Amino acid sequence: MAGNIVLIGFMGAGKSSVSEFLAKQLGWELVSTDALIESREGRTITEIFKTDKEPYFRQVEKDVVVQVGQKDSLVIDCGGGVVLDAENIANLKENGRIFYLKASPDEIYLRIKKETHRPLLYTETPLKKIEELLAQRATFYEQADYIIDTNGRSIDVICQEIVDLVKSEK
Ligand code: S3P
Repeated sequence: MAGNIVLIGFMGAGKSSVSEFLAKQLGWELVSTDALIESREGRTITEIFKTDKEPYFRQVEKDVVVQVGQKDSLVIDCGGGVVLDAENIANLKENGRIFYLKASPDEIYLRIKKETHRPLLYTETPLKKIEELLAQRATFYEQADYIIDTNGRSIDVICQEIVDLVKSEK
C-alpha cells in the first residue's frame, strides 16, 4: 500500500488528530501543509493572512503541495482550503488517495469554538461562516477518492476505516 494518504476536509474536521494517529499506526511520516507553510515562512498562518493576505497564503500552499505530492508513503494533513485549487487536487492525487473527513457545521463549530488560530473564522458569527464556507466548498471536497463520515465517531474508528480502505485497494 504505497503512495500517500491525503486527508482533506473543513477546519476542525479532525484532520490533524486522525493523521497523527494514522501515521503512528502505519509507521509512516506525517506532514502537515500548514506546518510546512509556517516553517517555510517563519511565521504563523494568522500572521501571513494579516500581512500578506489570503492569495499569498494560497500560493505558498500550492508550492508546498507540489513538494509533498511528489513523495511517497506520507500521511498528508492538508489545510482546509487546499481543495480550492484544482491543480492541488491533481497534484495530491498523482501519488496518493484522498480522504475527505466530513463533519457537520454544528460539530465543526463545537470542535473549533475555543480555538483562535484560524483567520477565516475571525467573525462575530463563526457558525454562520462555517455553514457558508462548507456550502461553497462541498463540491470541491467531494472530489476525494473516499468520503469518511466523522460525526460522532472516535479517531481510532475513523483511522481503522481508512486503513481498511487502503488495504482493500488492488
Ligand atoms: C484554511 C484552513 C486552515 C489553514 C488556513 C486556511 C481554510 O487549516 O490552512 O487557516 O481555508 O479552510 P486547517 O483546516 O488545518 O485548520
